[in-house]
Amino acid sequence: MTAVAPPPGDRPVLYVIVCGSPLAGRVDRLVDLAHRDGWQVCVVATPDGAKFVDRAALARLTGHPVRTTYKHPGDPDVLPPADAMVVCPATVNSVNKWTAGITDTLALGLLVEAQGRGTPIVAVPFTNTAMAAHPAFRAGLDRLREWGVTVLFGDDVYPLHAPGTGDRHLDAFPWQLALRALPARPLPTR
Ligand SMILES: Cc1cc2nc3c(=O)[nH]c(=O)nc-3n(C[C@H](O)[C@H](O)[C@H](O)COP(=O)(O)O)c2cc1C
Repeated sequence: MTAVAPPPGDRPVLYVIVCGSPLAGRVDRLVDLAHRDGWQVCVVATPDGAKFVDRAALARLTGHPVRTTYKHPGDPDVLPPADAMVVCPATVNSVNKWTAGITDTLALGLLVEAQGRGTPIVAVPFTNTAMAAHPAFRAGLDRLREWGVTVLFGDDVYPLHAPGTGDRHLDAFPWQLALRALPARPLPTR
């Protein structure tokens, strides 16, 4: 991770939300690809997602601090408003809470609010076969799709891995699919 952030200019703003999975540690690849596509990128991590990322390196790469917690009332917003969001990796935990409308992390609060505003959202769950089998998770993905969220999940996107083998499946992850699923130049929804 050596690159520095391109100047913001009038580039649309993409929030990349990362949850608690080792794949979060590779999110710089998504940031690089998004920069090449003309996005300005801000990374938001869940508290468990933050354990897997290099916050300082991502801040240099994006030009924005990595946010994890809600700001204090009266504090300024340190990130520009989002034109679109990608949740990748989306954990089973965060998907289940999101579909219930729970906003106990900044990441979930941003997603729930973005849905209400009509901001385009792409969700890319990453988990193993056992966790993915839970009926609440499966039903949640269907609900998100019904609600207009683009969900990239299944063997046609990226084959599920066996429990305990996630680390072996990080290098080949198809980050570019999340970007291809975004609108080319989103309409302002802020
Ligand atoms: C080493 C490790 C790897 C994990 N990998 C995943 C994963 O790939 N997908 C997933 O859904 N949960 C995974 N988990 C479980 C989540 O981190 C856990 O459910 C956590 O509460 C998620 O919080 P969040 O959704 O707020 O990020 C992993 C946990 C650990 C400790």
